[in-house]
Amino acid sequence: MVHEEGDVKSNPSQQQSISTHSEVAQSAGIGVEVQGLVKRYGTLVALDHVSFNVKAGELFALLGPNGAGKTTLLHILCTILSPDEGRALIAGADVVQQALRARRRLGVVFQEPSLDDRLTVYENLEFHGLVYGVPAALRRKRIDEMLHVVELSDWRERLVRTLSVGMKRRLEIARALIHDSRVLFLDEPTVGLDAQSRARIWRYLHDLRQQRDLTLIVTTHYIEEVEQADRVAIIDQGKLLAIDTPLALKSAHGHEVLEVSPINAEVRAHILAEYQNKIVKTSEDQLTLKVEDGRFIEHFLSIYGSQVRAMTRIEPSLESVFLSLTGRAIRDQEASARERTLAFGKQGGEHTR
Ligand SMILES: Nc1ncnc2c1ncn2[C@@H]1O[C@H](COP(=O)(O)OP(=O)(O)O)[C@@H](O)[C@H]1O
Ligand SMILES: [Mg+2]
Repeated sequence: MVHEEGDVKSNPSQQQSISTHSEVAQSAGIGVEVQGLVKRYGTLVALDHVSFNVKAGELFALLGPNGAGKTTLLHILCTILSPDEGRALIAGADVVQQALRARRRLGVVFQEPSLDDRLTVYENLEFHGLVYGVPAALRRKRIDEMLHVVELSDWRERLVRTLSVGMKRRLEIARALIHDSRVLFLDEPTVGLDAQSRARIWRYLHDLRQQRDLTLIVTTHYIEEVEQADRVAIIDQGKLLAIDTPLALKSAHGHEVLEVSPINAEVRAHILAEYQNKIVKTSEDQLTLKVEDGRFIEHFLSIYGSQVRAMTRIEPSLESVFLSLTGRAIRDQEASARERTLAFGKQGGEHTR
């Protein structure tokens, strides 16, 4: 059902330039290229000239609060939404000009569940394999392999509606890898799962990366999850604010903090007055001070060392990176549940096939 040719035939000159481009991209080990993407919903600019590359084999995280434009970006990269400006290539295939070719190279786990509840685990995978034209023997092999990876082999004949939320997520990951996907997109794959299920999903992703030559692009608004990514892109209000390794982001934009618990209210007031411009957070018994220079801690200790009950030095976090890039904590920016429901409603019905 999926045809490799045909989607580019209408414009031979473009096909020429695109295949040349894709050869360059492949030789440079580029998995995904995004150039100047713009997407508007009416007057709202959901993506504002977003450009970046993801290397083949990379674990790449897109971090941003709800409403940042992550799902919109992923939908464009998965060929189900067209950009207003700019272009994107998946393993060398243009998502607009060569949509079918791009689609064969990517797998996707949507933010919203997209399994058929009335079919069994096996049937969901089988149907996906059929749609993507995976030959029968290979299909059966991949289904067995993937069920094993996500620990659902014992559940293959069960109806999907009897599965837990976490199991459904695992099945969606398995499904995305039944065809020859080289790039796997996961849109908030762990949202709404308990800590154990979240850890499990991440374990599978790491295992899969070792087993297959896979590029992973994961969106999340959980800061703690992006620490394990090779690189992180921080996106807010449709704009890409920074992109680098977690370590480099922290050293460029993050800062260390010192949490201190003054022995009494008088000391607390002294510290507050003396370090006005360093205070980043206050609570009744604790003050958090920004550390810009290692000597600050020595200096603080020499004055207040005997007047604090406890003191903790905290390494720069990605939370502090987001704060210094946007002036807000990532959690302050979360849209209300109602806003999110409305946004999903509008996107309802979109599908890969
Ligand atoms: N189909 C749509 N129609 C109108 N506005 C939309 C639609 N989809 C998303 N939006 C808006 O675009 C912005 C980005 O949304 P989205 O891409 O879902 O962000 P994220 O996935 O980061 O939460 C939000 O302000 C959202 O309300
Ligand atoms: Mg989203």
